[in-house]
Amino acid sequence: MIDGVGRTIDYVRISVTDRCNLRCVYCMPEEGVPSIPHGQILRFEEILRVCRVLAKNGIRKVKLTGGEPLVRKGILDLTAELKAIPGIENITITTNGVLLEELYDGLVDAGIDAITVSLDTLDPQVYQSITRRDEAARVRRGLERAMREGRVPLKINCVPVLGVEKQELLDVVELARHHRVHVRFIEMMPIGLGSGFPLLREEELRTFLEKHLGPLTPCDDVPGNGPCRYYAAEGFQGRLGFISAVSHQFCDGCNRIRLTADGYLKTCLQYDCGAALKSMLQAGCTDAELEAVIRKALADKPKGHHFGDQAPFAGREEKGMSQIGG
Ligand code: GTP
Ligand code: 5AD
Ligand code: SF4
Repeated sequence: MIDGVGRTIDYVRISVTDRCNLRCVYCMPEEGVPSIPHGQILRFEEILRVCRVLAKNGIRKVKLTGGEPLVRKGILDLTAELKAIPGIENITITTNGVLLEELYDGLVDAGIDAITVSLDTLDPQVYQSITRRDEAARVRRGLERAMREGRVPLKINCVPVLGVEKQELLDVVELARHHRVHVRFIEMMPIGLGSGFPLLREEELRTFLEKHLGPLTPCDDVPGNGPCRYYAAEGFQGRLGFISAVSHQFCDGCNRIRLTADGYLKTCLQYDCGAALKSMLQAGCTDAELEAVIRKALADKPKGHHFGDQAPFAGREEKGMSQIGG
């Protein structure tokens, strides 16, 4: 599918649940956010149906997100069924890793092509202060297992958060020295609670890392569907990457749409525009009707975000990351 400004859209991020077993400070308040009522969550048949229509219209890649995607019951079956849709070539997942140890083999057997684990620190106490849960050891075991077995490519997402010293980020970086795992640093985006946190810019972090690791050389040998730019460091098995939505806006090359857990087809991370597919599905729409609504939403996809200026604007997304899926 081509959107209104000529970008090819071939990637859908499907948020399979808004629930999560962590409470990261930049994503959810301590008490959590009210969950979408059961009846409003897309059922698997509905996700699969929308995905079939999307695949018929050029979507080739699927990312499973949440909340935390692995807490959705039946996620392994859903993964296998999505992978079996004609036209879908690649299915990946971004997880917080809490349930990865027990689900790793199941995910790979179901056909997952790559796994990304979100991990902002290796220090169990700092981890607890960021996520408000005592799960550092479990995540570490999941990660160790994924690194040891190496059945699919593995990435780490690290959002530098206030309170985590740059020095501690080096511990996360070290994982890529000794293992085939790519460590990516994500600039904090002003979405939901993220707006209240300071930003560590790529430039500052890269300069710091180069002081400790030597020169970082740009490289393009890491498969992926996202906006990450990768660098090689001397003596490292994995790559270091930067996802810098704030300092290096990448909307010109945007290739994606999102499907939220309550069936909203979202065409941009920072806008609330798109199409409410759940109500159409419930009203018994045809595939042709779905397709027409999806195409119209795509034609109106915003050109880009406004992370740079804090002023309110029409259509700004009010939902938090756990309801969008990142
Ligand atoms: P892979 O490299 O293929 O795993 O893709 P990815 O980078 O899209 O995956 P992931 O789900 O790990 O997302 C990484 C980060 O990019 C998250 O913080 C997302 O919120 C962010 N992100 C994903 N899509 C967009 C987007 O369209 N705009 C912006 N600004 N950020 C995005
Ligand atoms: N800015 C940047 N990244 C964020 N994530 C969650 N909230 C934000 C934010 N405000 C990250 C998570 C996860 C990915 C899907 O999005 O840490 O790795
Ligand atoms: Fe859960 Fe991800 Fe939000 Fe953390 S960032 S609370 S792991 S949805």
